[in-house]
Amino acid sequence: MQKILVARPIFPDVIERLKQYFDVDWNNGDALPAGELARRLADKDGALTAGDPIGAAVLAAAPKLRVVANMAVGYNNFDMAAFNAANVLGTNTPDVLNETTADFGWALMMATARRITESEHFLRAGKWQKWAYDMMLGADVYGSTLGIVGMGRIGQAIARRARGFNMRVVYHNRSRVAPEIEAELNAEYRTKEALLREADHVVLVLPYTADNHHTIGAAEFALMKPTATLTNIARGGIVDDAALAEALRERRIAAAGLDVFEGEPSVNPALLTVPNVVLTPHIASASEATRRAMANLAADNLIAALGAGPRAGQPPSPINPAVMGKARS
Ligand code: GLV
Repeated sequence: MQKILVARPIFPDVIERLKQYFDVDWNNGDALPAGELARRLADKDGALTAGDPIGAAVLAAAPKLRVVANMAVGYNNFDMAAFNAANVLGTNTPDVLNETTADFGWALMMATARRITESEHFLRAGKWQKWAYDMMLGADVYGSTLGIVGMGRIGQAIARRARGFNMRVVYHNRSRVAPEIEAELNAEYRTKEALLREADHVVLVLPYTADNHHTIGAAEFALMKPTATLTNIARGGIVDDAALAEALRERRIAAAGLDVFEGEPSVNPALLTVPNVVLTPHIASASEATRRAMANLAADNLIAALGAGPRAGQPPSPINPAVMGKARS
């Protein structure tokens, strides 16, 4: 029987599915440190990860490993050059999380604009003593301008929702989307700088790459309106969190909503001390149904890539399909 490592706690029934095909080593505990991960992978044919870093050293320590299935759409934890050099397949979980993640992007943007968590903290602290005309004044969402950075599948799902809020939609992306998609979404392309100047609410939904590290920092906050909000549901590292905390403290922008952080699960302590930021622990895809769909899609990828199950040899969402069928190197 082929051997796999499931590197994180996941739904037990998905583990049972995997056990029908494989000898499963399940780490049902905290994330494994790099050395321990490499040690546990040494005799494995496949692995299921969720954000665990997999690079050249780990692959070199696991000579039989042929596939790593990430339970996430983002796969910046994989060094794809190392995967390609070693002929190891990486897979991810696109599409199944689009709508759930778009819902959450809206929830976070609206909570940010309307100061929902700040208001709740105020109330819970017993500070609500009287009506006041200027209590917790926020920014309107309806009828405002939405700026989406990253117009992939999730960005498009966010744009689609903007119609009901009568918003203008501007977007920035590495490349323009097809004219028919722009027309359907009523979305206009902008340079990053123009978008930042124009948008009332900026939402980040782009994949993290070496090229866009800190693509939103002090210079970008300076371009934004002082009344604007920033919502990051993409990845930590895209935003310079220290510069953001300073911009929020100095009210260079009005507020931010963050689901992802540099170095998470650690959070820059400066962010914890500013009131005008809504903080959530990387839960944008975390509805019960969607997390189940992601876990099952990761399992489907692993099963098929290792030549088992009804789709043997045809994993549903390969990242680097060109390595399929090549000998491990
Ligand atoms: C979550 O962040 C994902 O990439 O799926």
